[in-house]
Amino acid sequence: MFSRRQLISGVALTCTAAAIQRPTLGRADYRSTLGPTVTPVANGRTVEVALEAAERPQVFPCFGGRKLPVWTFQEGVPAPVIRLRLGETLVATLRNSLPRPGELVTIHWHGIRLPNAQDGVPYLVQPPVEPGGSYTYRFTPPDTGTYFFHTHCNSVEHFGRGLYGILIVEGDETAPCDHELVLAMKDWRIGDDGNFAPFYTSEGAAKSGTHGTVRSVNSAISPRYTVPSSADVRLRILNVDPTRIAQIGIEGAEAAVVAIDGVPCPPFALDTWRFGPATRLDVIVRTPADGGVATLTDYFSAQPVPLAVLASAGDARRTGGFDPAPLRSSIVPEPDIANATHMNFTFSSTATGASVAELASIDGFDVGSLCLSSQTFWAINKRSWVSKDHRNTGPPLAKLDRGKSYVFELENVTAQSHPIHIHGHTFKVLGSNKRKLPPHHADTVLVGPRERVDVAFVADNPGNWMFHCHILEHQESGMMGYLTVT
Ligand code: C2O
Ligand code: CU
Repeated sequence: MFSRRQLISGVALTCTAAAIQRPTLGRADYRSTLGPTVTPVANGRTVEVALEAAERPQVFPCFGGRKLPVWTFQEGVPAPVIRLRLGETLVATLRNSLPRPGELVTIHWHGIRLPNAQDGVPYLVQPPVEPGGSYTYRFTPPDTGTYFFHTHCNSVEHFGRGLYGILIVEGDETAPCDHELVLAMKDWRIGDDGNFAPFYTSEGAAKSGTHGTVRSVNSAISPRYTVPSSADVRLRILNVDPTRIAQIGIEGAEAAVVAIDGVPCPPFALDTWRFGPATRLDVIVRTPADGGVATLTDYFSAQPVPLAVLASAGDARRTGGFDPAPLRSSIVPEPDIANATHMNFTFSSTATGASVAELASIDGFDVGSLCLSSQTFWAINKRSWVSKDHRNTGPPLAKLDRGKSYVFELENVTAQSHPIHIHGHTFKVLGSNKRKLPPHHADTVLVGPRERVDVAFVADNPGNWMFHCHILEHQESGMMGYLTVT
């Protein structure tokens, strides 16, 4: 039996569906390989958290027994999970205890429509936090959903070392699920010497990015979670990898997408979903009967990769058919498409980027041996962001009038995919010239090679907002800019 998703992946797969459904993992159960939920200091409707960026060498299940110098925001496995109820205010104090002299840090709350001053972009909206310094963020997220946070300084390395966390704003469920799991997908780049390998490479930056060597979910390889049987389990799936594009699906169970990038959508059956860096997908799965397994799988490779296994145990929780209730709908303002101003943004490679990509494609050619005078490989509307540390920003890519509706035509003229992210706003995805997309909103839209995706939004949030590719090596080598809303 060949499923549609096997056809979608574009390669004739030789493994059988049965093999996919029951991957031979032979691993111990990881009861909880996700970090602790940040314990809120309840203070009325304020949730206070302390996030200390620091090096905390440790052994993760996916490190094969090695201790690696990860950088994290809290003790324990990376990705502290902050949970708020809608309406609560987050007060997060960031302390920079990173060991490297001069290493700066900020926190960007990815996807949250917050006031510009809390957006965590160095120089553009706040001074970066120097070693030994601290900074307090305070905002009340206007929307429910699955989000994450990360630094906006030296991002390739910071992501590579694990400096990120998860932010969940609760209050969107109209009917409770039986169980919930947060599944954060991220590769780790471990070299032959057992230490981290360079996170940034010129050949990666000029092409699809430098991939990790070990795939993980919640820092474990194909972790196995025990879930209730015949139950509706909510998965909050995040792609927190700096590079990897996956094509995710659930093998062995019915599943429905209920939110994309945190924004609820009408539930639709999950076949597979092209899952770019920085995007999130909320999925409800009807788990198999006692003893059965369902597998979160990446089909974007010749052999499907089992990312995480849900193992059913105990009495059946539900008997009726699978029909997950929609989440509470979002309050993202509806753009006025008929009167919107259209703007084209063309994502291209620079001449240097194109020649490095070409050289990198020659077998045996060592791009590292080139004396590259610049790492400017990508551009938006022919402009490259050259200030990796954001110190010299130059003029905005576009000036938008506050309260007006815009249609952005995101046109990718390159041979690579680019997950395009806007800060402080949420797009309504109107459509693609290449594929059918369900109606949905997003803060990060994957635009494939030579694809054009149109998105619309109301520019209702004043300030300077970054607009960039979320393949972080592309971002750091030029595919970044900002928009000014006044
Ligand atoms: Cu996750 Cu500038 O973004
Ligand atoms: Cu890109």
